[in-house]
Amino acid sequence: MRVIIEDSPAAACVKAACIIGEQLQRKPASVLGLATGGSPVGVYDELTRLHNCGELDFSKVITFNLDEYVGLGPDHSQSYRFFMRTHLFDHVNLPQGSTHVPDGRSLDFDSYCESYESKIREHGGIDLQLLGIGTDGHIAFNEPGSSLGSRTRLKTLTSETIRDNARFFGSEDAVPRLAVTMGVGTILESRCCLLIAYGEHKASAIAKAVEGPVTAQVTASALQLHRDVIVVLDQAAATQLNRQAYYREVEDAQSLLESGQLGKLGIGDE
Ligand code: F6R
Repeated sequence: MRVIIEDSPAAACVKAACIIGEQLQRKPASVLGLATGGSPVGVYDELTRLHNCGELDFSKVITFNLDEYVGLGPDHSQSYRFFMRTHLFDHVNLPQGSTHVPDGRSLDFDSYCESYESKIREHGGIDLQLLGIGTDGHIAFNEPGSSLGSRTRLKTLTSETIRDNARFFGSEDAVPRLAVTMGVGTILESRCCLLIAYGEHKASAIAKAVEGPVTAQVTASALQLHRDVIVVLDQAAATQLNRQAYYREVEDAQSLLESGQLGKLGIGDE
């Protein structure tokens, strides 16, 4: 796991957008997995800015979102389809039909969820999956206790998630109780995972996910089993990490390598 600690949430968003941008430069027809909620908003703003400057082209990109509330249609102001339109889809050149957000109004969720998984496979799998983390350690809506091998399915939200998300709905009672969500197993099949978190309220979940045991009680900890995970944090979200100093040393060494300053790493005879 690569852990990048930035000075502020704004700097973390720019860093995450830069990582996504590099993915699109390497592979213009990338399949991106996308997240909603407060955390990715600044990332989408930065991606939009880069697109407006002519630095990012989404014309060949395919997207799959992690989740959707059950019962909300695409025009509901709190649906994740609506969120994605507002924060990204309407601002970049993603062709119609290239974006996928689970449908929260299916009448047959079992076959719908299977077809969502099939579509991901038909597009060759997800190249880079953007993730936020819940205060209970969830990724997507894989609440504590979710199988680490789980696939796209219906999930009941915990009272903690309902409380956290009430800020978007005005009251806890208005938050849907169920969501369609990619499973932990689905997420782990992405070629790269990019987890972002800001603020002290995420510090405990981040410490458990990054340095705690791998457990279904903190589904983000399953990312420790993945070979290519980048975690981008602000300082507040990093406060409970024991190995902060080491993560910073790794990043310093990485930038010396990238800028060719090999002598400073004791390589060669500079
Ligand atoms: C949303 C999602 C959730 C959020 C998480 C954090 O698509 O998958 O896992 O990433 O609940 O939400 P925020 O960013 O609002 O704190």
